Amino acid sequence: MNILHPDIESYLAKHLRRPHPVLTDMEKRAERLRFPIIGPVVGNLLRQYVALLRARRIFEMGSGYGYSALWFAFGMPADGTVICTERSSENLQLLQDFFAKAGQQGKLDARQGDAIEILLNETGPFDIILMDIDKHEYVRGFEAAWPRLRPGGLFIADNVLWKGQVLDQQPDARTRAILEFTQMVLKQKNALTSIIPIRDGVLVALKKE
Ligand SMILES: C[S@@+](CC[C@H](N)C(=O)[O-])C[C@H]1O[C@@H](n2cnc3c(N)ncnc32)[C@H](O)[C@@H]1O
Repeated sequence: MNILHPDIESYLAKHLRRPHPVLTDMEKRAERLRFPIIGPVVGNLLRQYVALLRARRIFEMGSGYGYSALWFAFGMPADGTVICTERSSENLQLLQDFFAKAGQQGKLDARQGDAIEILLNETGPFDIILMDIDKHEYVRGFEAAWPRLRPGGLFIADNVLWKGQVLDQQPDARTRAILEFTQMVLKQKNALTSIIPIRDGVLVALKKE
């Protein structure tokens, strides 16, 4: 199931200005290889959140080859940092190359390994944490992320509507993990949470001050 009608998705993306042409190259690569990036509509939203929060410290769980992280980087001033985590060394190398092409390498802290383990070794606090890792890890990922977010910060997770499979009568294991995670965030006492039905569903939880 498409969450948004494809024509509406195209309409939303049509007039979006990319801050650098390298983002378009990355989108073409994703289309060619069927690699799941967040896409320009969500990317633009991330950049807007960075500006709203005046974010300087961002942690990303599951960076792929750096598309979402570059949108974050373009929203930040020169002294901002996005910590990218990725288990594939090949993706991480590409990510570093794309950041360099976009002239944003000064804002990049790229780490190879398990995103949750890396985050557990950080004290934070972070202005924004984005989670886009394997879905069965979402509950554990949220448990690691929430205490490391500053009050007033945003926790963001991709794919929470999972192509509509969250409506399945007999959801599979990955869908059940997303459902469990979503309930956990919605019940979190000091969170103000929205689910935005663009692309594959974006959950945004504000940590109350
Ligand atoms: C959906 S892609 C990320 C896309 C990226 N956020 C973007 O929009 O440009 C998920 C990536 O996370 C990586 N990944 C999945 N689970 C991970 C984990 N626990 N630790 C580190 N990387 C992980 C995968 O190798 C994959 O490249």
